[in-house]
Amino acid sequence: MSNMTSAAKAGLEDVVATSSAVCYLDGERGVLAYCGYDIHDLAKSATFEEVCFLLWHRRLPARAELGDLQSQLAAARPLPEPIIRLMRSLPPVDGMDALRTITSALAHYDAEADDMSAQANYRKAVRLTAQTANIVATWGRLRAGGGAIAPDAVMGHAANFLYMLTGKKASPLAVKTFDVALILHADHEFNASTFAARVTAATMSDLHSAIVSAIGALKGPLHGGANEQVMLMVQKIKTPANADAWIRKTLADHGRVMGFGHRVYRVEDPRAKHLHRLAQELGKQAGDTSAVQILDTVVRVVGEQKKIFPNVDLYSGAAYSSMGIATDQFTPIFAMSRIVGWAAHVMEQHANNRLIRPRAEYTGPTHATYIPIDKR
Ligand code: ACO
Repeated sequence: MSNMTSAAKAGLEDVVATSSAVCYLDGERGVLAYCGYDIHDLAKSATFEEVCFLLWHRRLPARAELGDLQSQLAAARPLPEPIIRLMRSLPPVDGMDALRTITSALAHYDAEADDMSAQANYRKAVRLTAQTANIVATWGRLRAGGGAIAPDAVMGHAANFLYMLTGKKASPLAVKTFDVALILHADHEFNASTFAARVTAATMSDLHSAIVSAIGALKGPLHGGANEQVMLMVQKIKTPANADAWIRKTLADHGRVMGFGHRVYRVEDPRAKHLHRLAQELGKQAGDTSAVQILDTVVRVVGEQKKIFPNVDLYSGAAYSSMGIATDQFTPIFAMSRIVGWAAHVMEQHANNRLIRPRAEYTGPTHATYIPIDKR
């Protein structure tokens, strides 16, 4: 029975759940900053490894510190042999399901899995960031019938991932594009998956468990799963010439258009314009810009009719497709970047923990009389 006044906020919209020094978001002005650094500056000038250091230490690294982190990430890439065997034994499930299962299994081979000290959490964050990239690449190959490729200890995080996924050294443009995409996805305040991670961590559960909770939350099409749905929409539209009529009909039928709208942004997601540019550049290099042209038409019509704007998930898939990456890898790739933010938030939660346990406004029946089962 409720003893509360009706204060429930559907979907916890605009509810400030706690304070955090990791990520700043202004939905009215379209501002996103990691630890004070604007996302546009980071996308232009930083590397993914620098952003890992930034989110985990809340400051930019000195050159030697960055070198140390790069070496630690490279050293953590190889997966335990039983994990590779487990991957081979799975049925051909969705990439996010595979990532969730394998990340959970990794805890059994991590000697510090249950150590919740700040130092152990940091070391696990490094290991999990390196290992999830390996899992996503290896799963992509196994599922496509190829053999697993051993990581290259000399390459950076983005270059090594593309090499492990494709078996070929990626072009400098592909590596740079992928690195920027990883930076853009690394954190986003209290989004659904990060909140899931923090709720799990706040019970003083371990980092692997928190990350597994987050992977499950990211998978849904209203969150990270939207990037795959966008590409499926592009495939249905087929050609730029079909886009205008297709999207008008979808809106007339009250369809939800993936890659648009946001709980916080009232303007365009600041990450979208970078992904648009990268998708365009890679499309030109690959000799096919049709996906971007289709999406540009969809943006124009959805903007005119619904006044909603692209989010981070709209153009990322077009960029990944031009690199030859399969559609069902897009959300796992999102996860292999967001894991950095999840880990930063779990470390922040553990450093000043209080159980997260909100209330619900009860709307069910009251004073029900129990009837024995043979009298119902
Ligand atoms: N397509 C069509 N209409 C939309 C969309 C959309 N993508 N997004 C919002 N709207 C409309 C709704 O129909 C609703 O209109 P109404 O008030 O006339 O009924 C209004 O805008 C508000 O929508 P809500 O669903 O209440 O907004 P909410 O804040 O709960 O949802 C969400 C945000 C889930 C992101 C939503 O915009 C959506 O479903 N987008 C498509 C999925 C997507 O792209 N998700 C990725 C988000 S970014 C990320 O998580 C990484």
